[in-house]
Amino acid sequence: MDAQALNAEGRAIWDAKAAFWDELHGDEGNRFHRCFVGPSVEHLLALQPGERVLDIACGNGVIARRLAALGGRVTATDFSAALIEKARARGQSGGEPIAYQVVDATDEAALVALGEGVFNAITCTMALMDMPVIAPLFRAARRLLTAGGRLVIATAHPAFNSNGPTFYAEMSDEAGQLIERVGLKISRYLDVPPVKGAGAPGEPTPHTYYHRTLSELLNEAVAAGLVLDGVDERGFRPIDEIPPRLLSWSSVPQIPPVLAVRWRPGPHP
Ligand SMILES: C[S@@+](CC[C@H](N)C(=O)[O-])C[C@H]1O[C@@H](n2cnc3c(N)ncnc32)[C@H](O)[C@@H]1O
Repeated sequence: MDAQALNAEGRAIWDAKAAFWDELHGDEGNRFHRCFVGPSVEHLLALQPGERVLDIACGNGVIARRLAALGGRVTATDFSAALIEKARARGQSGGEPIAYQVVDATDEAALVALGEGVFNAITCTMALMDMPVIAPLFRAARRLLTAGGRLVIATAHPAFNSNGPTFYAEMSDEAGQLIERVGLKISRYLDVPPVKGAGAPGEPTPHTYYHRTLSELLNEAVAAGLVLDGVDERGFRPIDEIPPRLLSWSSVPQIPPVLAVRWRPGPHP
């Protein structure tokens, strides 16, 4: 399948599971939103009240609502009309009304049509790994941002998460002490083909995940005229959550499941 066909398949899958996704995340999102995506994005974005923000691939609007509550004037887009409908239906508890629009993030022209040079900030959270191509989004971001603007993304960490890690738990007797360890085994990183993944437990229709190495991810943005300007990585802290299962990200607090990156527009090519 070519990228266009893969993207069309992805859209149909997201439309089909929009209700499940919306129910699962509710108004404020899940543990990943609360512990990683939200704090990393807010830290890197340092949003100022009144700034114009574009949230690309907004899902049911968790981050868009948060940015509006922080004072942003938010436009939020997704290629799933069903998810945009769910996001709208959730309303919001604060801030200026969010302008929702159905836009495919692999379509550079459709993104740029939202307004060249008008956005102070662009976010795209937990979605780049769901897209067969990301160069159009980076090129569009370069054109959509104001001179002092910034693009902040959060995505499944290329080194630890999007490359098929295996969780393990083991116990050994070391000098008379029973030592328990939980960790990750990583056996591949450079060449990991796209794979259909379960996503959240209970998710009805697996969709395709696209692993990219750090160099692929970062260099795509550089090639689009963006300049790397900040990185954020976090692990669960013991106070964050009681682990839902022994083998979960909460049990490996030294390993960040999410990578957040900030870029700024470079000089015009
Ligand atoms: C894992 S969800 C994340 C949603 C939201 N950003 C969040 O953090 O809750 C991935 C989202 O990416 C959207 N998506 C995937 N491919 C897309 C594309 N080509 N254009 C626009 N949205 C896309 C899906 O519809 C889905 O809403």
